[in-house]
Amino acid sequence: MSSFPVTRLRRLRRTSGIRSLVRETRLDLGDFVMPLFVGPEAFANDDLPGLARHSVESVVAEAEELVRLGVRAVILFGIPDEDKDEEGSGAYDDDGIVQRALRGLGGSDLVLLTDVCLCEYTSHGHCGVIRDGEVSNDETLELIARTAVSHVDAGAHAVCPSDMMDGRVAAIREELPDTPIVAYSAKYASAFYGPFREAAESAPAFGDRRGYQMDPANVREALRECEQDVAEGADVLMIKPALPYLDVIRAARERFDLPLAAYNVSGEYAMVKAAAAKGFLDERQAALETLTAIKRAGADLVVSYWTKELASWL
Ligand code: PBG
Repeated sequence: MSSFPVTRLRRLRRTSGIRSLVRETRLDLGDFVMPLFVGPEAFANDDLPGLARHSVESVVAEAEELVRLGVRAVILFGIPDEDKDEEGSGAYDDDGIVQRALRGLGGSDLVLLTDVCLCEYTSHGHCGVIRDGEVSNDETLELIARTAVSHVDAGAHAVCPSDMMDGRVAAIREELPDTPIVAYSAKYASAFYGPFREAAESAPAFGDRRGYQMDPANVREALRECEQDVAEGADVLMIKPALPYLDVIRAARERFDLPLAAYNVSGEYAMVKAAAAKGFLDERQAALETLTAIKRAGADLVVSYWTKELASWL
């Protein structure tokens, strides 16, 4: 191997044309999924436009705009406001908020993914049903599967279970042999979901999610979660959050051949937005660098609140 002065790595950095020729990772809008929140009423979120809330009507207009901008896929979250109960029945109501939004979006060219979870619909804000003060795994499975089926009946193209119950992929797979399952395989109990929980009104009323979401300290356990999801019939594995877990994305990429997704979560988006609003950094540069890093770590697809803005940046 030659070394300096024969080797000069700066030679390939001299012009933007040369840098482009040797660039290893590129952002392609086709790899991005835009999250959309749907509730009974629309309202703007001036600080975090990606977390604005749509109504069933306005989400159709938003979808048209996204298609016009070149966005290919969205993931829907429902915010039912009032009708919450112990069993999260709004999640699997055939006339629920996500189901109605899906029917409204039926004519669009977007790939429609849905988040499958109970936390936005339960009165206690946990991702499953409570028995003896704990989230009951096995009783929750049936409700998660029922939610996924009702999404598909309403027009979802793929379902994304985010509840972190053991066995949820198998429970969904049994009901839906032909539907792609994007499993939130390694979902950590993270502080970076804060802005989402504000927007989706899904913070737990007591305790926290550490009894079912993963301990941020663990990476081997994330691979075991992925292994289980592969065995249960998942089509895509997802790591969430993304930026503080790039090593987990890399480890999953090296171990598994399934497409790998990463969720660039609300707190990752919000901290850049907030820093940019203070003039500490340039949002566009920071966002492009963040998204490039997530792809470089090994993600094939990325769920990001920047997807819409990315469409105009690329
Ligand atoms: C539902 C769910 C959450 C997120 C996605 N699906 C919240 C949570 O687990 O508390 C977070 C997404 C984000 O922060 O952008 N379980």
